[in-house]
Amino acid sequence: MAIDIEILDDPARACAAMLVGVAAGGGEIVLTGGSTPRAAYVEFVDAVRSVGIDVSRSAMWFSDERCVPPDDERSNYGMARKALLDRLDGAPAAIHRMEGELGRGDGAAEYKLELADVGAFDLVLLGLGPDGHIASLFPNFPTLDVTGRDVVGSEAGHEPFVDRISMTLPRLCNTRELLFLVAGEDKADAVARALAGEPSHQTPGSLARAAEGATSAIVDRAAAAQL
Ligand code: 6PG
Repeated sequence: MAIDIEILDDPARACAAMLVGVAAGGGEIVLTGGSTPRAAYVEFVDAVRSVGIDVSRSAMWFSDERCVPPDDERSNYGMARKALLDRLDGAPAAIHRMEGELGRGDGAAEYKLELADVGAFDLVLLGLGPDGHIASLFPNFPTLDVTGRDVVGSEAGHEPFVDRISMTLPRLCNTRELLFLVAGEDKADAVARALAGEPSHQTPGSLARAAEGATSAIVDRAAAAQL
């Protein structure tokens, strides 16, 4: 399926604008971890505050989590709380965090319950690791083949080396819009494989495509160097 790829100097800002649109419409948004998404969250709140946008009907989910308490500096929720949630004047209708502190088995089971009966998301945001991983789905891990379940526990395949909880590919792909946000020259090879290569378990990003919606990518020039 074709991906709409935008190459921009400031991908975080463009991503933030998309987040604003979906949040203002009361959408169900899946956030992810990583430094590039973090920059987008900061810009998102700046935009929401400067224009006075109401995000109180939106809901936030998480693609994955590290198995640490929410106040640990490695927590994806902790990062999103500091960069985004705590900086909003009005809270979203719901914030569905993964409970990393429960460990990968119980944490995944709890989030599975939270997701029961939830239909398609409106926007799933994904970063991309230099190894091609998305969320906490790592190259050649058996978790890539999990179907019929929304959430899995996993060992880490990338730093930080703590256990993980992750949405599965079918759950991430059940969305109206799936958006990759990638920056940095260390991602150039992964970007080419994930966005323009053949689907492969070696590159989890190549397997993430909105099942019935649109898939797009916003990348900076350095990350797009091998496209
Ligand atoms: C995580 C993320 C992960 C991240 C990529 C990109 O838990 O680490 O969910 O999938 O999005 O690793 O992260 P960077 O933007 O920091 O490279």
